[in-house]
Amino acid sequence: MSSEPHIVVVGSANIDLTTFTDEFPRPGETIFGREFHLGFGGKGANQAVAARLCGARVSMVARVGDDLFGPATIQNFTARGIDTNHVRITKGVSSGVAPIFVDSAGQNRILVVKGANDALLPADVDAAEDLLRSADCIVMQLEIPLETVYYTLRLAREHGIRTILNPAPGQRLDLAELADADYVVPNETEAEALSGIHVTNLHEARSCAVDLLRNGLRRVIVTLGANGALLANEETLEHIQPYRVDAVDTTGAGDAFIGSFAYFLASGYSETESIERANVYAALSTLGVGTQSSFVTAERFEAAWAGR
Ligand code: RIB
Repeated sequence: MSSEPHIVVVGSANIDLTTFTDEFPRPGETIFGREFHLGFGGKGANQAVAARLCGARVSMVARVGDDLFGPATIQNFTARGIDTNHVRITKGVSSGVAPIFVDSAGQNRILVVKGANDALLPADVDAAEDLLRSADCIVMQLEIPLETVYYTLRLAREHGIRTILNPAPGQRLDLAELADADYVVPNETEAEALSGIHVTNLHEARSCAVDLLRNGLRRVIVTLGANGALLANEETLEHIQPYRVDAVDTTGAGDAFIGSFAYFLASGYSETESIERANVYAALSTLGVGTQSSFVTAERFEAAWAGR
């Protein structure tokens, strides 16, 4: 097992503005929310932080705005021991922000304004090529331009570097481009956006995964929230059981899954065990409020893993 695998995240960083509420205002109406939480987020940044907390060496390739959130985001990465040599500030653009609404069942609704994340272009990937070529695993999501995602996948494939793509937020994609990814890891909504197949349960997730493999994807993991995850590749279609908890806030649980999965896989665990472990890591993150702020340390994870 490699003790400190190097994971590079090419992706987004946002500021999360989380409001806890069960009601939503109608046009022209003002109502009270229950509670508010300001935190560092963004799918890319969250996945980087999860991998780092698990024990990986992590580098971020990203863009932030030249507002007060930009330097604070870089400072947050640095404080967490994440390499920011390829995190650039884009002039005249806001940082990515995400107003998030969480109800009393812990379910979230997220609105993302991409801001500077949209300025992360293939030229930034070229500038980080040496770093990318030194990675054990490259992790991506879809809060940056698609051309950058496809470009990075091609570059990684050319150099034999393992990639994990989280196709979030969900959208229709060119599946031929995704054939370059080693792992595509959607949740149910994202799986549906990719395949056009409705996914609300394990049975439908199976049909969807089979369809995606038939369309050229190499390995698909559909995360199923409280129902665990489904692994699909050429040899197997395997349901991996969830780790059950009473969730308080599920925001960022998918990112906790991806970041920790990247770490476990790059550390040398099998696909199945990496998913089992990532299920536990992600479930633990739902016990706290916020995204990165709810991600647990390697020690906390190991205690839960040993006692499961
Ligand atoms: O997956 C959760 C994340 O989605 C939040 O941190 C928010 O910033 C959006 O990117």
